[in-house]
Amino acid sequence: MKTKSIIIIIFMSLSWSLSAQRVTIPVETQNAAMVLQTDDNNRLKIIYTGRVLADGSEYARVLPMYQLQSQGAASTNNAFAVAGIDNNFTEPAIAVVHTDGNNSLDLLYESHTSVTTPDGATLTTVTLKDPVYPFWVDLFFKAWKETDVIEQWTVIRHTEKGPVTLNKYASANLYLYDTEYTLTSYNGDWAQEMQPVTTPLRQGMHTIQTRLGTRENLHTSPNFMLAIGGEATETSGTVMMGQIAWNGNFAIQFETDVYKNLHIVAGINPYQSAYRLQPDVPFETPRFIYTLSFEGKGKGSRNLQRWLRNHRLLDGHGDRLTLLNNWEATYFDFDQEKLVSLFSGAKELGVDLFLLDDGWFANKYPRNHDRAGLGDWEPNKAKLPDGVPYLVREAEKSGVKFGIWIEPEMVNPKSELYEQHPDWVLRQENRPEIYFRNQLVLDLSNPEVQDFVFGVVDNLFTENPSLAFIKWDNNAPIFNGHSKYLERNNIPQSHLYVGYTRGIEKVLARVREKYPTVPMMLCSGGGGRSDYSLLGYFTEFWLSDNTDPLERVYMQWEYSYYYPAIAMCNHVTDWSDRSLKYKIDVASMGKLGFDIRADELSDNDMKFSQQAIRNYDYFKEVVWHGDMFRLASPYEHDLASLMFMNADRSEGVMFSYLTNWRYLSAPHVRPVKLQGLAPEKRYRLTELNLYEGARSPVDSQQSYTGEFLMNVGFNPSVNTSRSSVVIKIEEVK
Ligand code: DGJ
Repeated sequence: MKTKSIIIIIFMSLSWSLSAQRVTIPVETQNAAMVLQTDDNNRLKIIYTGRVLADGSEYARVLPMYQLQSQGAASTNNAFAVAGIDNNFTEPAIAVVHTDGNNSLDLLYESHTSVTTPDGATLTTVTLKDPVYPFWVDLFFKAWKETDVIEQWTVIRHTEKGPVTLNKYASANLYLYDTEYTLTSYNGDWAQEMQPVTTPLRQGMHTIQTRLGTRENLHTSPNFMLAIGGEATETSGTVMMGQIAWNGNFAIQFETDVYKNLHIVAGINPYQSAYRLQPDVPFETPRFIYTLSFEGKGKGSRNLQRWLRNHRLLDGHGDRLTLLNNWEATYFDFDQEKLVSLFSGAKELGVDLFLLDDGWFANKYPRNHDRAGLGDWEPNKAKLPDGVPYLVREAEKSGVKFGIWIEPEMVNPKSELYEQHPDWVLRQENRPEIYFRNQLVLDLSNPEVQDFVFGVVDNLFTENPSLAFIKWDNNAPIFNGHSKYLERNNIPQSHLYVGYTRGIEKVLARVREKYPTVPMMLCSGGGGRSDYSLLGYFTEFWLSDNTDPLERVYMQWEYSYYYPAIAMCNHVTDWSDRSLKYKIDVASMGKLGFDIRADELSDNDMKFSQQAIRNYDYFKEVVWHGDMFRLASPYEHDLASLMFMNADRSEGVMFSYLTNWRYLSAPHVRPVKLQGLAPEKRYRLTELNLYEGARSPVDSQQSYTGEFLMNVGFNPSVNTSRSSVVIKIEEVK
């Protein structure tokens, strides 16, 4: 017994004295830290992920507090786990075959730097090198202090004599020292986006991934939420939340080891994607972006929302246009007279823009349904004899701006584009074509196709300089993907998925260079695309074709963990027979739009809608740019309640919805506790979005302290005859 404790003491003091020579690299935000440290063999380890320590010198003392060494087992806490040498049996972050056919990799610490970037973050770069081969991996950590967000990615490079094959090339490798992890990830399908699934991680590997190539989020979202060390609520608990920002095949792997620690590897999905990397051509991986919150999911989501508005979303601090879309109002059945007749409805409602959706193009194979025409971006002469310029002019005459839908990455086999350029289409010549929504995907790895796609946008703007909005759709995944371009250029087909994603990013970068500010909506057969990489080119995205407002309460709730309301397009449609008020109230918690026949609204409904849009114009500033707080979850109560508050805590808006119409459900019994107020301020609450003559139980003559509203709460009186309630919150001076 005595001998054993002496051995432990010797071991601990040995590692303690060794730690003096070790290199310790903290990556810190305001509240969170991830710390790297070299070991005796100069391999880089992750020794800490958690709260920031005020005395940074203490990080070096963390590892001896864990006694994780197990006889003969390889190490589990590598900073970038490799395949092919014997110090790692965990899931590799990188696997390569060198020019000489050797398939092993070792990575030793070489150097590191830390700088402040021009945009105000701290960028730490750690260079690792193979001791035998001229092969390097640079690990990047971009830490955003005020939002506790870390972006992680890698650059892989070599100077071997020929190409090196990368069989796996992750962006990030993390290691968490805790004992309990609960993962929330998201299933999906058309009209069923962001369905949360909660999985306790106890043993082995759990992967969230897509292999669809395009419309990549159709079945799985790239977003995840990980409660660490116990439950995370809206206001308590430790939670990591984020996504892999890659508009293509991604994989995030969560591997629980024998110590109950959690190893995370995130990046491009290696599925069918072995990459032949030439010497001196660095390969930059996409960013794994996450925040760590020690105050629950609410804080985590506000971190991500703020970070996106400040640093990623195009025009995150700007304005957005309310709109009337014609998709559900007309589908493919319209002509220019019908469209022009809808413009006045947009004006009467009081929205900023009319958005013309699918069906306006193609002549040889007219786009009168979704089986033909995609790819032929000439206005259809029968429907639009005077072309798009006429529509833009007529809309402007009616007092609204004009926007248009495109889906430029896709083609119907029944199209002139397909006839003229079969080699631009991703397809296996010796197999039957497989269609999704009757269409195929163009080969965006081909620069000629990139030019074509750019041209679709460029031609529209050249012909219509005052075109004010683009909805960019993408409805099919890649089946039987084979690229003629790669084949002709002797590039392996396994470059296709990466080549596609890089191709579409190149096109979007060109679009934004020439048209930097015009608002564009990212859409993908509903919410099939919403990654942070693409949101750098878009001002907003389409969450789902499912616009049933009750479903939307849940869906928007889930999306809001990862995206600010200003980015989320919500439209009022005829999808369900809930009241118009319920629909408008729900859609007002983001970027408001309509997809209805305005001329079919009753006078009363029209008046109500006009007033609701005026109200929205009044409070949209706080919805778009304020802080969001989730107050009552529809998963736990018979109502959902949430609020937005401005930075100086003087103005806000609260939304509450009935989510269960059963007689026995009584959501109105209890008050809802508000958040994000100044306890000492007094607030007046006034109900908005009421039909003319409707009386509200909310007495706007009263005022309450923030302390009262946050500790006792306020009862919005939600019930079956008041199934949605919008309340303005104003400081009384
Ligand atoms: C899918 C989108 O999600 C819809 O909003 C609509 O634009 C259709 N495509 C048009 O084909």
